[in-house]
Amino acid sequence: MEKIIAVANQKGGVGKTATAVNLSAALRMTHRKRVLLIDMDAQANASQWLMGSSGEKGHTIYDVIMRQVKLVDCIIKTKSGIDLLPSNLRAANLDVELLGVLHFHDRLNKALQELPGASYDIVILDCPPNLGMSTVNAFAAANVVIIPVECKREAFDAVVHLMNTLVMVTDGGHAIRPYGLPTFLERTNLARDIYELLKEKFQTQCLPPIHKNTRMAEAFAARQTIFQYDPQSSGALDYMRIAKELMNDFEEETEVRRPNRSSRK
Ligand SMILES: Nc1ncnc2c1ncn2[C@@H]1O[C@H](COP(=O)(O)OP(=O)(O)OP(=O)(O)O)[C@@H](O)[C@H]1O
Ligand SMILES: [Mg+2]
Repeated sequence: MEKIIAVANQKGGVGKTATAVNLSAALRMTHRKRVLLIDMDAQANASQWLMGSSGEKGHTIYDVIMRQVKLVDCIIKTKSGIDLLPSNLRAANLDVELLGVLHFHDRLNKALQELPGASYDIVILDCPPNLGMSTVNAFAAANVVIIPVECKREAFDAVVHLMNTLVMVTDGGHAIRPYGLPTFLERTNLARDIYELLKEKFQTQCLPPIHKNTRMAEAFAARQTIFQYDPQSSGALDYMRIAKELMNDFEEETEVRRPNRSSRK
């Protein structure tokens, strides 16, 4: 089954884009998944990362959501092997232009449903650092949300607020599975304590942590995924581990839905 994963946290600079890009790369490389990355953010960092620039007018997430241009006509094939629906500054207008529009929250969901059948195994949505129209559209389309949380004490308030928004958007609607992802973990006692707290909060739904690693920032500057830039770095190993954990979970879920299969001898 197709998985649609929103990477979201209204707090800025917590590693959303790094996660969206490098998790996409790990799923594509080691698990041979067909991955579509959708840049939902007007800052267009994921677009810059994968194609060196923002999206061109007429072929961005703004055009898909606002002008109802066909999604399939806006996809760019990037060197990394990841397909990308880019963004640019116009995406910031969505918050104003979608006001009062009927079913405004369902635009992305509809566009994804119109993709030719079985085009992608996994769609990853890189959300902006706010809970505006882009993020609400992402939540309405997603069946999984990954919430990167910096291993700092003040990071928790944002998570509570985010979870409330998630419940509001999906209330009575589709099921959505949230995962916490500790980011920027440092090898200090304080960071370790906060990591333990986070694990407690998300319990089984806490993914293994991403360590602070300067190679990650360098990879972005070089416009390469961490696997292209330094496949031996701790960043590369961390994202590989997360991809594996998620794939295991998704497979287990499928098995639970087909209980007869495992009991057959
Ligand atoms: N594990 C890491 N170690 C060190 N630096 C990192 C790591 N992950 C990301 N960075 C760097 O930290 C900065 C913020 O990361 P990123 O852009 O992924 O956050 P974000 O949550 O998407 O930010 P925004 O809210 O602005 O969209 C970037 O410069 C990025 O290159
Ligand atoms: Mg970002």
